[in-house]
Amino acid sequence: MDSARFQIDRADVPCGLRERDEPLSASCEQERAIQPSPELAVIIPTLNEAGNIGTLMDRLRQALAGISWEVVFVDDDSKDGTIDFIRRLALRDHRICGIRRIGRRGLAGACMEGILSSSAPIVAVMDADLQHDERRLAEMLAILKSGEADLVVATRFDDGGGANGGLSRIRHLGSRLAIRLAQILLGVVLTDPMSGFFMTRREIVERVAPRLSQHGFKILLDIVASSPAAIRTEEVPFTFPPRLHGESKLDASVVTEYLGLVVAKASGDLISARFLLFGLVGFCGVIVHLTVLYLLLRQELSFVVAQTGAMLGAMLFNFTLNNALTYRDRRRRGWRFVTGLILFASLCSVGVIAGVGVSAALYQDSPQWWLDGIAGALVGALWNYVTNSAITWRAH
Ligand code: GDD
Ligand code: MN
Repeated sequence: MDSARFQIDRADVPCGLRERDEPLSASCEQERAIQPSPELAVIIPTLNEAGNIGTLMDRLRQALAGISWEVVFVDDDSKDGTIDFIRRLALRDHRICGIRRIGRRGLAGACMEGILSSSAPIVAVMDADLQHDERRLAEMLAILKSGEADLVVATRFDDGGGANGGLSRIRHLGSRLAIRLAQILLGVVLTDPMSGFFMTRREIVERVAPRLSQHGFKILLDIVASSPAAIRTEEVPFTFPPRLHGESKLDASVVTEYLGLVVAKASGDLISARFLLFGLVGFCGVIVHLTVLYLLLRQELSFVVAQTGAMLGAMLFNFTLNNALTYRDRRRRGWRFVTGLILFASLCSVGVIAGVGVSAALYQDSPQWWLDGIAGALVGALWNYVTNSAITWRAH
């Protein structure tokens, strides 16, 4: 074969696509200034941190001397001019860049956006408020590069780390409780799965990115709990000092979101917003049931006939609403609607039997009608949800 025909004239190849060690032609000489993508990207979410950015960058420059790095700030349209400050710094140092997000809030989403914006093979996430010790970064990078671990977490609760400086007593206690919960329910081995200071290979995050929650503070826990295989992890301790400027954004909704994440991940993502919607539809179904029963009884039908009609009505109501709302992404139409209704009715009948069985057994031991009734209803609801998710509206 005439191999010459397949040879590429290197002069035609854009300079940026050339091999790293290929000699530059004269036309590429001016592109000598082009730098390859840095090895490490430090992602820093910001919300009203103008007072901290200057000091933080001074410290980072010192801590990262000798490393090829970039810093990506992800700002959720702070009102204190944080992004203007970042832009001014970036004009003088091309290794700094800022993403300004408008109309969006959320620490986890901001971190994800920063990570996915970078092409650096290694990414770190840290806070902007000087509470994370940037001097740990070089050590974390060395561990990753040595190949000993795929994720390095700077932890506040390790032997050498300090947890009391920046955390109030109550928060310390809450933090510990949340950590125990994650360890027990998710089998997460991290000492501090709530840490917002870690470093990993970008590829690891890219892999789980579509499954991660955009809300809440718990990006690290989410990455670890969503990964199909266990991630080899190392921890380095650090001291968590008090905040100097600005205030913490961690509040009750953050804790609620964290608990939601633990429940979702512990149930293999089954119990989620979808489950809550399923429960809400079920609750409305009970009201429909009672209304139909009342109306039919007024027609002077026998109780058995009226109750049967009410059950069928409620079943149709629940199925239609779940099909339209709870499982709208897996909606059944046409014939599949009819077969779905039959499946739904059959599975829910088993749910009724299971629920009655459980509450009857409980009632025998401790006759507390309302408690036993609720327990039975919960078992039935859980059965209905799990089986219908897996069968009637199974993901394709
Ligand atoms: N872009 C963006 N959007 N940034 C945010 C948001 C947001 O909605 N909320 C907070 N941040 C930024 C802050 O500006 C700061 O740089 C960092 O995220 C952490 O926020 P803090 O408000 O300082 O959190 P903290 O110190 O109370 O919480 C720390 O400890 C938690 C565990 O107890 C953080 O390290 C958390 O990541 C960690 O989970
Ligand atoms: Mn903080």
